[in-house]
Amino acid sequence: MEAEANKQKEIMERLKLRIAGRSEKLGRPLTYCSLCFGCQMNAKDSEKLEGILETIGYVRTDSEDADFLIMNTCTVRENANLRVYGRLGQLKKYKKNNPDMLIALCGCMMQESLVVEKIKQSYPHVDIIFGTHNVFKLAELIEKKLDSKGMVIDIWEGTDEIVEDLPSDRKYDFKCGVNIMYGCNNFCSYCIVPYVRGRERSRKPEDILAEIKQLVADGVVEIMLLGQNVNSYGKTLEEPISFARLLEQVEEVEGLQRIRFMTSHPKDLSDELIRVMARSKKICNHLHLPMQSGSTKVLTDMNRHYTKEDYLTLVDKIRTAIPDISLTTDIIVGFPTETEKDFEDTLDVVKRVRFDSAFTFIYSKRTGTPAAKMEFQATGEEIKARFDRLLKEIQNIAKDTCGRDQGKIMEVLVEGLDEQDASLLTGRLSNNLLVHFPGAPELIGSFQRVKLTEAKGFYYIGELVS
Ligand code: SAH
Ligand code: SF4
Ligand code: F3S
Repeated sequence: MEAEANKQKEIMERLKLRIAGRSEKLGRPLTYCSLCFGCQMNAKDSEKLEGILETIGYVRTDSEDADFLIMNTCTVRENANLRVYGRLGQLKKYKKNNPDMLIALCGCMMQESLVVEKIKQSYPHVDIIFGTHNVFKLAELIEKKLDSKGMVIDIWEGTDEIVEDLPSDRKYDFKCGVNIMYGCNNFCSYCIVPYVRGRERSRKPEDILAEIKQLVADGVVEIMLLGQNVNSYGKTLEEPISFARLLEQVEEVEGLQRIRFMTSHPKDLSDELIRVMARSKKICNHLHLPMQSGSTKVLTDMNRHYTKEDYLTLVDKIRTAIPDISLTTDIIVGFPTETEKDFEDTLDVVKRVRFDSAFTFIYSKRTGTPAAKMEFQATGEEIKARFDRLLKEIQNIAKDTCGRDQGKIMEVLVEGLDEQDASLLTGRLSNNLLVHFPGAPELIGSFQRVKLTEAKGFYYIGELVS
């Protein structure tokens, strides 16, 4: 879709002049504030939106009292939605003081027609609404808004288009996410993502590799390949290719040092992928493998296409091939059909696998998904009690598993200053754990050898080894 990219670039040139003119009149730069909720896919989209805003001349600020405010929304659980409405209410006062302020909403929530209706009714101070399929059109929508009155709304039901080669403002100089596919075809019964992100579409390997080579030429040493189910990458391409094969090609990019990927669906994780991971020098020693539940009955109701035993067998296979791999997971507690016995199966898997860490969520009903019609087998209180038990178990286990490398010397990629104590640096191990250690800020972006002197649960304290 080169024509589309060129069209957008032309619009950006026009907007650049308009924004420069406005800024001259005001005697100050125009600012933008970008808020992002949700997963890495959304974070990546926000980098693209920020790239467009920077290109047309807006300057970043963290203050929501900005000339342009964009909120990239998530709707995976209800509380993600509630946070957005809360924020929107607060923005009214900024717009009152600065009537030229523009407020844009985009992302997964906007793909739900009821949400858009509610915003039209209750939040008329919003200027631009678009969805997940047309992020590349931000400049065009801004131009349209500047030339018209009223809310500009542009939501696409779905798309086959993948627009390549538009600007992106990277959060880090040395690491970056790279989309390899969009959408999801799995329809797990609790999940809204397939409805708001559309059908699965893989990018061509040559486009992915070209982007990675460019990133490496710009100084990136670590990339994270992104997709809702990377293990089904490439199946729908004209010339099908497996995810494992893509990884092998990425591995060959000279200068690239670390490769991560998210997320792996257990049903599609192939032996070929395990072999490639075990052999690779660049793929990090970490696998995020969402299990969701340990009960075969609940997994069936969730439409996950694997059993408790399948999951355990897969973990064994992975650990046999890569003994020191760090395993993390996602777990949902309180799925409608979950009984106490089902929950005990989840606890059982947690105890057997001994994850390095786990994201745990209380099931949230999403209207329009099959699970929304299922009847609850437990009360809210029972579910909350299960959640607390699970969390305790996970934390106890993680203390042990995460500390297994105490005393060793390992390599970290230095990511920045420690957020709590600026005399310390924070580095990331291949297995995704963080290490805090004394060091000079010049080391940010470089690989360093660090002795892991003290395990602190989910992170280490360390010291540089020269
Ligand atoms: N594609 C990824 C997950 C994306 S959503 C995968 O399949 O692993 C991230 C996590 O949110 C999911 O793994 C799941 O644990 C959780 N989640 C999704 N829908 C949810 C819901 N309705 N209620 C609670 N948690 C949910
Ligand atoms: Fe949602 Fe399942 Fe797709 Fe993950 S694989 S995004 S949980 S439907
Ligand atoms: Fe949320 Fe959309 Fe990601 S619903 S989890 S931001 S795909």
